[in-house]
Amino acid sequence: MRLPFTFLSLALLSAPAALARYGGGASAYSGLNQAIQRQHEHLDRVKDAYMTASTAHHSHSKRQEGNSSLPFANPAAEPFYVDGTTIPEVNFDAGASWAGLLPISGDPEETKELFFWLWPASNPENADKLLFWTNGGPGCSSMEGFLQENGPFIWNWGQSEPVANPYSWTEFANVVWVEQPVGTGFTQGTPNITNDDELAEQLTGFLGQFIEVFDELQGAEFYLSGESYAGYYVPYIANYIYEHPGLNLNLQGIWIADPSLSYGAVQQDIPALRFVQAHSNVFPFNSSFLESLQNISDACGYTTYLDDYVHYPPDGLLPLVGVQEGSTGTAPECRIFDQITEEIYWLNPVFNIYRVTDTFPNLWSVLGFPRDTQQFIYFNRTDVQDAIHAPHQIWEDCLGPVYVGEDGDQSLPSMLSIMPNVIEKSARTVVVHGLADMILIAEGTRIAIQNMTWAGAQGFQTPIEPESFLVQDDIMGAQGVYGNMHQERNLTYVEFYMSGHMTPQFVPWAAYQTIAYLTGARESPSA
Ligand SMILES: *[C@@H]1O[C@H](CO)[C@@H](O)[C@H](O)[C@H]1NC(C)=O
Ligand SMILES: *[C@@H]1O[C@H](CO)[C@@H](O)[C@H](O)[C@H]1NC(C)=O
Ligand SMILES: *[C@@H]1O[C@H](CO)[C@@H](O)[C@H](O)[C@H]1NC(C)=O
Ligand SMILES: *[C@@H]1O[C@H](CO)[C@@H](O)[C@H](O)[C@H]1NC(C)=O
Ligand SMILES: *[C@@H]1O[C@H](CO)[C@@H](O)[C@H](O)[C@H]1NC(C)=O
Ligand SMILES: *[C@@H]1O[C@H](CO)[C@@H](O)[C@H](O)[C@H]1NC(C)=O
Ligand SMILES: *[C@@H]1O[C@H](CO)[C@@H](O)[C@H](O)[C@H]1NC(C)=O
Repeated sequence: MRLPFTFLSLALLSAPAALARYGGGASAYSGLNQAIQRQHEHLDRVKDAYMTASTAHHSHSKRQEGNSSLPFANPAAEPFYVDGTTIPEVNFDAGASWAGLLPISGDPEETKELFFWLWPASNPENADKLLFWTNGGPGCSSMEGFLQENGPFIWNWGQSEPVANPYSWTEFANVVWVEQPVGTGFTQGTPNITNDDELAEQLTGFLGQFIEVFDELQGAEFYLSGESYAGYYVPYIANYIYEHPGLNLNLQGIWIADPSLSYGAVQQDIPALRFVQAHSNVFPFNSSFLESLQNISDACGYTTYLDDYVHYPPDGLLPLVGVQEGSTGTAPECRIFDQITEEIYWLNPVFNIYRVTDTFPNLWSVLGFPRDTQQFIYFNRTDVQDAIHAPHQIWEDCLGPVYVGEDGDQSLPSMLSIMPNVIEKSARTVVVHGLADMILIAEGTRIAIQNMTWAGAQGFQTPIEPESFLVQDDIMGAQGVYGNMHQERNLTYVEFYMSGHMTPQFVPWAAYQTIAYLTGARESPSA
């Protein structure tokens, strides 16, 4: 049987070669032999998991054969139907799904349309739940999340072909990946928004149109999720839905990963040098450069910031340091993050700010982002566009601008504005952050949480205990301590070891467990 992951077969083939080269068998190399043995055992375990998942996936799609059991039966849904055997490069039946463009309002003259791809819940118990996903940017396509993070099939960096994803979020709900706002991906029309209330109004209008077509979803338990700049989008959409009742979906909570939710000073500059020190093996700066960084850190108030202000509970509002007088932007002489990220590329030309532990070689991506493509950009192919009812147009992972005007998004960061209201109105609010992400640094999210007042108090009242997040994964067997976690007053915060920015891509087992928690499939995010 063909292995679904080419890299696995390569790894298995290379082990005997390594044995031969080192003269396997000599007692001096027994440590090496044992290591190779362990590697074989783990690869077999992983291979079995993916094969099993792939088979299970087929049986799920069987359930939908014949149209009497199609979950979305409204004739208006028919033009959006995607046959899972016709998706280019996907060499198995991925099951039924629905994709295409829908307008942001019922106005027959409406010119603005968003692109979506809807997949039914693979577990029939969750057919009454709807989970929305958006990537960030602003202007980045949710098809990235679909194809490389949490969709039913995955075509990851360096992988030779797409494979069924045993960690697909469709286990927990019907999932809709939406390209939004207008100006992103396949969306149609001219952007006209200047802030995220307007973004939320348009997205909510789209959702109204969407549940008219997929009317089995009317009244569904609803969850919003997203990553990165969706730290603005998702809380603002949730806030809008809570404040403007009318959409017939029952919003229960949100999940945001490595979110943009405070000032750049907070999420990049204040924690930057501590991040470099914590990952000194991948930031091999010389001593004079490190000394100049230390000088900036001392002069700008970064060095003792955590000790001085990030207390549980906090002593009062946290000061914004390193900024220009009368502004919230980092002062030029305090832009330590820019200096670090400029210098590191001289030492490591393939430095990956989205996951700092990556090294040479630089893996290709079929989406051409954040790495180059080898052959084609998947969603830019007309055969792919035809299969999913997308318009024939040039598709790039990140486009834009999506806000009109010189100054971009005019909204305040979510944790400095509407997030408290969202937490108070939601059953569950989950914020996760990968500890190997540098584009947005986890310690900055901690600062933002400690400066936020919700449900009657400011910040967490007791500290985030180290090693408090555990994974127990039945699919590939990942298990044990996997990060740090804290829950208070309906806010859950989880930090994942080893993960870069795109947490469902890098630690799918950990992200999956937190989505199980969000949607009520488990009582705690931690095992
Ligand atoms: C199911 O319905 C879709 C349209 O909704 C149609 O295109 C497809 O051919 C049908 N499949 C079967 C197996 O009848
Ligand atoms: C943007 O355009 C839509 C129509 O596509 C309109 O309904 C809406 O009021 C406009 N929004 C702004 C902020 O101008
Ligand atoms: C030390 O690092 C800085 C920043 O990368 C560089 O400009 C400088 O030339 C380096 N010094 C030496 C002696 O390599
Ligand atoms: C750092 O600051 C110290 C004390 O002001 C100074 O002597 C030193 O030259 C500075 N080092 C760098 C690399 O800027
Ligand atoms: C903390 O919140 C206050 C009030 O919103 C704000 O003025 C201040 O800049 C914030 N500090 C940080 C570090 O974000
Ligand atoms: C995207 O597709 C168009 C034709 O549909 C082609 O001209 C263009 O080169 C493609 N872009 C990339 C980056 O592959
Ligand atoms: C947490 O959410 C539940 C369900 O929405 C609510 O009943 C409870 O009061 C909330 N707890 C706090 C401390 O806000």
